[in-house]
Amino acid sequence: MSDLLITNIRSLVGLHPENTLLLRGSQMQKLPGIENAWLLCEGGKIKDFGSMDQLPDHLPNYIVTHDANGGFVFPSWCDSHTHIVFAASREEEFVMKIDGKSYEDIAAAGGGILNSARKLQVATADDLYDSAAQRLTDMTRQGTGAVEIKSGYGLSTDSELKMLKVIRRLKENFSIPIKASFLAAHAYPPEYKNNHEGYIKLIIEEMLPRIADEGLADYMDTFCEHGFFSVDDTDRLLQAAAKYGLKPKIHANQLSVSGGVQVGVKHQAISVDHLEATDDAAIESLAASNTIATLLPSCSFYINIPFANARGLINANIPVAVATDYNPGSTPSGNMNLVVSLACIKLRMRPEEAINAATINGAAAMELSAEVGSIAKGKKANLFITRPMSSLAFLPYSFGQSQIETIVLNGKIS
Ligand code: NIG
Ligand code: FE
Repeated sequence: MSDLLITNIRSLVGLHPENTLLLRGSQMQKLPGIENAWLLCEGGKIKDFGSMDQLPDHLPNYIVTHDANGGFVFPSWCDSHTHIVFAASREEEFVMKIDGKSYEDIAAAGGGILNSARKLQVATADDLYDSAAQRLTDMTRQGTGAVEIKSGYGLSTDSELKMLKVIRRLKENFSIPIKASFLAAHAYPPEYKNNHEGYIKLIIEEMLPRIADEGLADYMDTFCEHGFFSVDDTDRLLQAAAKYGLKPKIHANQLSVSGGVQVGVKHQAISVDHLEATDDAAIESLAASNTIATLLPSCSFYINIPFANARGLINANIPVAVATDYNPGSTPSGNMNLVVSLACIKLRMRPEEAINAATINGAAAMELSAEVGSIAKGKKANLFITRPMSSLAFLPYSFGQSQIETIVLNGKIS
């Protein structure tokens, strides 16, 4: 593997000390860097970096040099919440939404998660793999270098296993770190409409043991929401998952104050995600925990629901991450650059906070802090190089436009 030296970096961003794994509250404002820098990648990892006036002069000649030409270097985005394995897009619902229907109206009319489940159940694993691989490739081209992917459009044992095996194939074939979350508790399938207990039992007694046996999931997820899975359902499911060593990362307080935050905290969730409806009780509960609040501003943007109270969370010293939620219904976009812009514009996060939320805290929300999320010696050399920019804030400021010029994954320009 030829090694890579990047020179003439206007600003090398995200140089957190090696022992910093997560930032909370006011720590999120700090985004250390080096101006006018170089960075050396060796064996797929970050080997060293420094300022251009101290560029090592005796470098072996097998090193490839890339002139960043005044661009910024950032650690790759860490997208800790996605649903990119799905069979079909749902732009018919997009039009219903334009005509004034809410997310709940669309679900009640046969759209929503059950619509995606019907289509996924008849799709082949190969077709699901190919379309998810295309989405993941597009995401890496937009700067993403680590990702979490959920099941949850299967809603039967066979189809949930089919989805998780597609995620396993993605893990095998992509060089970026990927984590899998088991989300059978995403909606009650029609055959269990009047038998919720039966579906919970199916998840606990049939699906979980098989998934654990085959090592197909890293986390347990549930959609804790009125009309979906209750706090009690979630409590039982998380308790059952814990027996198999699956920690929770859950959907909480998306459409209403559901109690999802508290039940997540009770089970020491790695993260509780969404929080568009965040009350003081949820903030209090998170403040007394190690759980990360993962906010998904492009979901709020797309389905026209409130934006999460990021300032309230940060002021309460809670670690905040941001992610895309890429899925066919509520967020048909996997663009972390847009998420970072929306975090600034709509969540009122400062550029440094939004970038930390999308890198080091996103990595922590996938338990990948030792590998990715910042520029530190020994971490994976997953990064991107921007065009020359006037300042750091130009990246989120120029929303909807990509400033990324070069992608480096495992120390190689890709
Ligand atoms: O995170 N809210 C639950 N799940 C997804 C949406 C799923 C869908 O509409 O297909 C979300 O927004
Ligand atoms: Fe989601």
